[in-house]
Amino acid sequence: MTKLTAGLIAIMITGGMLSATPAQADNGIEVDYLGTNNTLVRVTGDSRYLLMPVQDNNDDARINVIVDGKIDKTIFVKLAKSKVDYKVPLDLSGYKGHDVVLNIITSQNRSTVREAKEDACWKNFSLSDSFDTTNREKYRPAYHHTPLYGWMNDPNGMFYKDGEWHLYYQWNPYGSKWQNMTWGHSSSKDLINWEHHPAAIEPNGLGSVFSGSSVVDKENTAGFGKDAIVSLYTSADASQVQSLAHSSDNGMTFDIYPGNPVITLESEARDPNMFWDAANNRWVLTLAHALDHEMLFFTSPDLREWTLQSSFGKGIGAQDGVWECPDLFPLKVDGSDKEKWVLLCNINPGGPFGGSATQYFIGDFDGTTFKADTDTQGNIPTKWMDFGKDHYATVSFSDAPDGRRTLIGWMSNWQYAGEVPTLQFRSANTLPRDASLFTAPDGQIYLASAPSPEVDMLRDKAVRKVSSISAGATARSYSIPPLCEIDLEINPRKAATVDITLSNGNGEKVGMTYDVKAATLSFDRRQSGITDFSQDFPAVTAAPVLTADNRLSLRIFIDRSSVEVFEKEGRLAMTNLVFPTSPYDRISISTGKGKAEIKNFTVYPLSIK
Ligand code: FRU
Repeated sequence: MTKLTAGLIAIMITGGMLSATPAQADNGIEVDYLGTNNTLVRVTGDSRYLLMPVQDNNDDARINVIVDGKIDKTIFVKLAKSKVDYKVPLDLSGYKGHDVVLNIITSQNRSTVREAKEDACWKNFSLSDSFDTTNREKYRPAYHHTPLYGWMNDPNGMFYKDGEWHLYYQWNPYGSKWQNMTWGHSSSKDLINWEHHPAAIEPNGLGSVFSGSSVVDKENTAGFGKDAIVSLYTSADASQVQSLAHSSDNGMTFDIYPGNPVITLESEARDPNMFWDAANNRWVLTLAHALDHEMLFFTSPDLREWTLQSSFGKGIGAQDGVWECPDLFPLKVDGSDKEKWVLLCNINPGGPFGGSATQYFIGDFDGTTFKADTDTQGNIPTKWMDFGKDHYATVSFSDAPDGRRTLIGWMSNWQYAGEVPTLQFRSANTLPRDASLFTAPDGQIYLASAPSPEVDMLRDKAVRKVSSISAGATARSYSIPPLCEIDLEINPRKAATVDITLSNGNGEKVGMTYDVKAATLSFDRRQSGITDFSQDFPAVTAAPVLTADNRLSLRIFIDRSSVEVFEKEGRLAMTNLVFPTSPYDRISISTGKGKAEIKNFTVYPLSIK
């Protein structure tokens, strides 16, 4: 038995938990049952990982990881009660040569210790030098960013520097449901191939680490060094306050600023998003004043001291949910010199099809105040960036090259994100998108989001190219590979509706309908495959078609558990998850009545190179 440190004995005695139950010794793991809901797991030896058994739908156990008698961290893990769904690794490499004890408080009410001993977890802890992260789950995307394991929500803190895109994300390293919020980290040279790195910012003194943003401090305004990466994130515990962390190794590791928090408010506020305002020579930060349904704007000379300047949003736009994850950036309109500002304002719930969605406003920002454009009736219109159910928390990269505004969203919805039928990981990010502004036929300016140019390199040689198809009431049907991009141009001619159906041999299908008169494209996933894990999942979503004439050029991206539909220029984006029991292997095209012409129908298999 490992020699207990004085500190640990003190903890055990003061807690009155010392137990006479003999420890179970098994290959370097010893279990001491202390009481009905308290157990110690003691680890010896030099293994790299302690693998902890998880039951996905169980309650969280609170685990204090005690190293040489001191609490190193506290984590929450759904330790298995009746069955082990998967294991999560606790990295022991930093604890070599030290005594490691897990002081575990399980939440189940037990009447006897004997009952507690029967929990499946105790005999299933194991030690290992490796942890298998092989991408083999059926619904694990083949070409979208996912965490290697564990739960992910918002992409955040993203920046570009020295040829690399850095993507941080809300991560639970200890399970596939939301918990233990940590900044996970991946980087890429091409926005498609992602390299996974150790956690960048872990829960610390002020709480867990919610969403935020990063900037490259080119002029060393903050004093952490020229070109330091400075990140602001929300520290979330009993309150939400804004904290600073900085990195001098291009975002691989961060130091937590001792002067935290840098912004405090008396009500819930989160997801600080910063940029350098060259015109006014200072930083601007947008903060979601979540429950007040507004965004707050702050300025700072040095990223440490922030002054509240103004707010936007009270009573404006969709107000049915909390306002979260803002972003504010300028873009040129219609490729001209005219500039407008875009304020992204993710809201949850209250999206057009229930749950989470990305609302935005177009307007002007003078360095202090955001003023939204109105429509011809003088109202500020509510606009949506994507008309699927699975596009949320979308924000852009700081410092993207060539004046690009590149964004990534979380491809899920808080209504059911924790219930989707995956296990070792949960949630992927959307394809990267490049934003631009265009004037639609209604005279309003809208945000276009088209697949980033890098997405094209996923294409293999086209397996089908048809220059013209005459589509009528009898469906024309073609086989498609499981991972593919389908491009087509619809000229509706006399047809009132054009239907595009993806299907498999199990009778599962996704139906997309272009309603020419209504100028909408709908997406019906009610029979798309597995849909019964949540009553909010089966749904029909619909996007306005904002093209100048009634022709519609589409790009459809199919991955293992998602379909993203774009108008070629990004004037329409619709992102939806699907869980077909076998991949869709056919596309059928038909019209309600009358003939339509489908031009340049092309099918590209997609693969990571
Ligand atoms: C949005 C959000 C953010 C918060 C984060 C916590 O999805 O609720 O507002 O920072 O998730 O994980």
